[in-house]
Amino acid sequence: MRTIAKLAAGTALLALSAGSASAQDKSVEVLHWWTAGGEAAAVNVLKENLEGEGVSWTDMPVAGGGGTQAMTALRARVTSGDAPTAVQMLGFDIKDWAELGVVANLNDLAAEEGWDDVVPAALQEFSKYDGNWIAAPVNVHSTNWLWVNKEAFDAAGGEEPTDFAGLIAMLDSFKEQGITPLAHGGQPWQDATLWENVVLSVGGMDFYRDAVIELNEEALTGDTMREVFDNMTQLATYFDENFSGRDWNLASAMVIEGEAGAQQMGDWAKGEFLRADLTPGEDFVCMRFPGTQGSVLFNSDQFVMFEVGDDQREAQNLMASAVMDPAFQVAFNTVKGSVPARTDVEDTEFDDCGKKGMADLAEAAESGNLAGSMAHGHAQPAAVKEAMYDVITQHLNGQITTDEALERLPQAVASAQ
Ligand code: BGC
Repeated sequence: MRTIAKLAAGTALLALSAGSASAQDKSVEVLHWWTAGGEAAAVNVLKENLEGEGVSWTDMPVAGGGGTQAMTALRARVTSGDAPTAVQMLGFDIKDWAELGVVANLNDLAAEEGWDDVVPAALQEFSKYDGNWIAAPVNVHSTNWLWVNKEAFDAAGGEEPTDFAGLIAMLDSFKEQGITPLAHGGQPWQDATLWENVVLSVGGMDFYRDAVIELNEEALTGDTMREVFDNMTQLATYFDENFSGRDWNLASAMVIEGEAGAQQMGDWAKGEFLRADLTPGEDFVCMRFPGTQGSVLFNSDQFVMFEVGDDQREAQNLMASAVMDPAFQVAFNTVKGSVPARTDVEDTEFDDCGKKGMADLAEAAESGNLAGSMAHGHAQPAAVKEAMYDVITQHLNGQITTDEALERLPQAVASAQ
């Protein structure tokens, strides 16, 4: 927020006057970061759905998982008084933009369609601001997954590891098989996604909450966090030498092609496996990151409508309504790898990983083991998230030691708050 708040309030308000109340413009310009194959296939489901309703789609894709680059592009657009109609957004970013008063109010539509009754509470926390609906959630993703090549898995004994030591044993087997054990894309958001998995695996949900959500200094600097950073160093020894800067979908492709044994990634990775015509259980295995079974770290893509003028209101409402439609939530999420953002959708159409994702989510919500993903904007506002990214990435690249990481993490977080 702090960065956004630095925008002159007046420039943000320019966006308010952009539209005119004349004839309804049935088109939407959509800013999103769904640029990989599986993601683009999912976007098409939405685009075609809207075109069926007579709403035309102008695409504004900005690559980069976690949405950091997309949010930078959005700031530029809003500053110049030209906000897009609808924007893909995650967690705390939604709150930040709502605070600026530049987003549309979806209360009437939400009331008409009964969103209050079907959207899980953990998502409503981000879909509403000051009690008003300001975003339509399209899915629930989860970050604590491991995607494994089936042939390599079978050759490693075919047993799912259930803790960090078991993961290491499986990676050692992949090494012996002559493949890259762990496909990783060295970009800050991917490093942070791996890190939050290790935090949960090593420390469990209470520790994740203390360290990542509460930012408790003892948790950020103690022995458990030391083990987390040491484990990150160990995992890095299983990467190939070209991991730096690699896009996540290229790391997925390594597992798809059998060049690598596994990838730690959120369930959008499944979209890539499906695009390559692979079947879960036959060609690849989805499992919870070893040591995190029973817990779910979630992130939800939501569409925030910007206040761009009355003439676009109808198109915005049609889009929000399409996103919330139960049949659309099935059609979209079966392609995307995520699960529905509504509690009243059956799992019948979902594959085994999707069914597991839905069951795990319900169980974790019930048992209190559901928490927001830090790497994907659901645990901390952008400034803190990015401060954490910096320390995690520098450490993973060997630029700072574990001792230095333990010293810098609380400092970085404190100065970002
Ligand atoms: C989004 C996903 C997206 C992934 C990679 C995440 O932050 O929630 O929808 O597929 O980034 O781009």
